Amino acid sequence: MDKDLKDYRKSYEKGKLLEEDIPGDPYQLFKSWFDLADKSLAVEEANAMSIATVGKDHYPKTRVVLLKGFGSNGFYFFTNYNSNKGKDLEENPKCCISFFWPSLEKQVILQGEVSKISAAESEEYFHSRPKGSQLGAHASNQSSVIPSREYLEEKLIKLEKEYADKEIPKPEAWGGFLFKPVNFEFWQGRASRLHDRIFYTRENDSWKIERLAP
Ligand SMILES: Cc1cc2nc3c(=O)[nH]c(=O)nc-3n(C[C@H](O)[C@H](O)[C@H](O)COP(=O)(O)O)c2cc1C
Repeated sequence: MDKDLKDYRKSYEKGKLLEEDIPGDPYQLFKSWFDLADKSLAVEEANAMSIATVGKDHYPKTRVVLLKGFGSNGFYFFTNYNSNKGKDLEENPKCCISFFWPSLEKQVILQGEVSKISAAESEEYFHSRPKGSQLGAHASNQSSVIPSREYLEEKLIKLEKEYADKEIPKPEAWGGFLFKPVNFEFWQGRASRLHDRIFYTRENDSWKIERLAP
């Protein structure tokens, strides 16, 4: 073994998650954990989440995207519908989203399904982004193979000229997804690896709450 990491370990002691303290609604618990992460100076991007998709080849793939909003409707993120993840989600809308806020020793894992949001909603968010990000979305046919870094930079320079005094339209393939969870797992690190894991599953019109062994 070139790099031995067997001695890498820490004890998790910053919090606990007990049944008497949790709400019946997992969105409420998510919001309180998200707000803690958001307020914490030790967390740089509280809204960075991993999304795992499984497409045609049946290999799961995770990558980080930014959560751009959430509420009782679900969780919103934006991407290129023609990217690898976009194609995977077209084929199989079932996916998994997870957050890990190391300084809080908290993890949240959600399984569910996505649907595309309306083009009008995507337009609205697209136009609220900085101009550089809007042009970047045009320059990048996300996940396609490109010949070089220069190719991308030259494309951006051309686009900057083309749209110097014009509104930048939303690229056809760029837009948002709404993720609706069917379950939520809240993980709080505890001492001696006896972590708290609280699992909410949607059942009829309410949420079933169970504790999982760590
Ligand atoms: C912190 C961070 C935030 C990111 N945010 C997004 C995002 O909101 N949307 C997006 O499409 N890609 C985002 N990316 C890039 C993705 O991780 C990924 O490289 C890209 O979406 C292409 O993935 P795919 O080929 O699997 O579709 C982000 C990456 C990082 C590290």
